[in-house]
Amino acid sequence: VGEAPGYHEDKQGRPFVGPAGAVLDAALGRAGLDRRALYVTNAVKHFSFRERGQARLHKSPTRTIVEHCRWWVRREIELIRPDAVVALGRTAGAALGCTPTWHPAYVLRQPDAAARERAMVELVAALAAAR
Ligand code: URA
Repeated sequence: VGEAPGYHEDKQGRPFVGPAGAVLDAALGRAGLDRRALYVTNAVKHFSFRERGQARLHKSPTRTIVEHCRWWVRREIELIRPDAVVALGRTAGAALGCTPTWHPAYVLRQPDAAARERAMVELVAALAAAR
């Protein structure tokens, strides 16, 4: 469970298809998981953004929005009945009331390759634990 669709996800109507999705796919691969066997979704269902010129910049959803969408992600979990749920980042953790691991975008935001790898190793460990 991620946070919310970003620009690319909003365009394509599918979760984690942009740069964060590429990190997620790499982390899943390293954890021995195949995305095709997983249900990937978001805590919030719409792209929250602020406009700067022509660009639409990601805006973290407010707590009110997360609470409004909570029933939806909980219902998905009831219907899918997954063996394990992984909350990617703080918003998903708040929506689900569980401890999150790093969001893939956090890995991308690290200042250098060594820090990115450290965050990636922790994300992979959380996914491997869920596997
Ligand atoms: N970030 C998210 O939290 N979810 C997506 O689907 C894409 C980026």
